[in-house]
Amino acid sequence: MADASFVLASAMKNIAAEVDQQFDALLEIPDDPRADLYRAMRHAAIGGGKRLRPLLVHATAALYGVKPEQSLRVGTAIECIHVYSLIHDDLPAMDDDDMRRGKPTVHREFDEATAVLAGDCLHALAFEILAHEATHRDSHVRAELVFELARAAGPAGMAGGQMMDLKAEGATFDLPTVTRLQAMKTGALISCSVESGAILGRIPPEARTGIRGYAHDIGLAFQIADDIIDVEGNEELAGKKLRKDGDAGKETFLSLLGLERAREQAKMLVEQAIEHLRDFGDEADLLRDIARFTLARNH
Ligand code: IPE
Ligand code: IPE
Ligand code: MG
Ligand code: MG
Ligand code: MG
Repeated sequence: MADASFVLASAMKNIAAEVDQQFDALLEIPDDPRADLYRAMRHAAIGGGKRLRPLLVHATAALYGVKPEQSLRVGTAIECIHVYSLIHDDLPAMDDDDMRRGKPTVHREFDEATAVLAGDCLHALAFEILAHEATHRDSHVRAELVFELARAAGPAGMAGGQMMDLKAEGATFDLPTVTRLQAMKTGALISCSVESGAILGRIPPEARTGIRGYAHDIGLAFQIADDIIDVEGNEELAGKKLRKDGDAGKETFLSLLGLERAREQAKMLVEQAIEHLRDFGDEADLLRDIARFTLARNH
């Protein structure tokens, strides 16, 4: 059997190339005054990022024999929401960051208004991709995908979590509140990626318990790892400015638990995530590798 990390590394490399191709085709620069808007979207969306969410759609959908072209479209749609969230997260009104994925942030490379609009457009593009016939021939499946992503992106998901995150500066949140914040801010899109793989595979909701538990646990482990990287990571590898959470006095898993207990908690979550996949055989090995990667990563 091939080495697990090799399988994961090649799956990540393939997905990254395919997602880049999708964005390249979707975002052709027009010869009119919108050119900078498209350039800004391309700057943010192409050539960077771990592409974890598209990989999760791919790995989950593959359990159920879904065509790779379909999972790629859905993964690209979820990545649109993720990239838009990063563009807005980096704005001066939010985290005020200059670097993202090893490049200047969109508002630094272009300007703030262009960054806001590039985010808006990627948000809309996500739903345009999902609603398109090429994503799935059954309109009920498309509607379910749209519903899940809308819920994961909105006030009960990512954007709501971002609002709580703003309030976490100088706040005294307890552990359940921080867990809820992180499950929304980061976990919702990760869960949506896994859920969407099952939707494409036409798996009924009652048969999704195992993969839902998996997604919930890796979502939290992934955010604890982000917080650990913020404290002890390398800026060049991470491609973004670090040591931000402590400086902002932000309540995170690390501020509440300390580095060692947070790491222990994340390890426990990764093990628990893998345990949720017990009903699957080696067809779920990629998902197991992804679970380990959420914590073992350095970027
Ligand atoms: C960063 O997400 C922001 C969080 C939700 C923690 P990623 O760590 O997935 O960022 P990219 O896509 O690899 O750049
Ligand atoms: C951002 O969280 C999560 C989003 C929904 C964009 P962070 O602010 O911690 O992400 P980084 O550290 O800037 O990537
Ligand atoms: Mg932030
Ligand atoms: Mg940030
Ligand atoms: Mg962070």
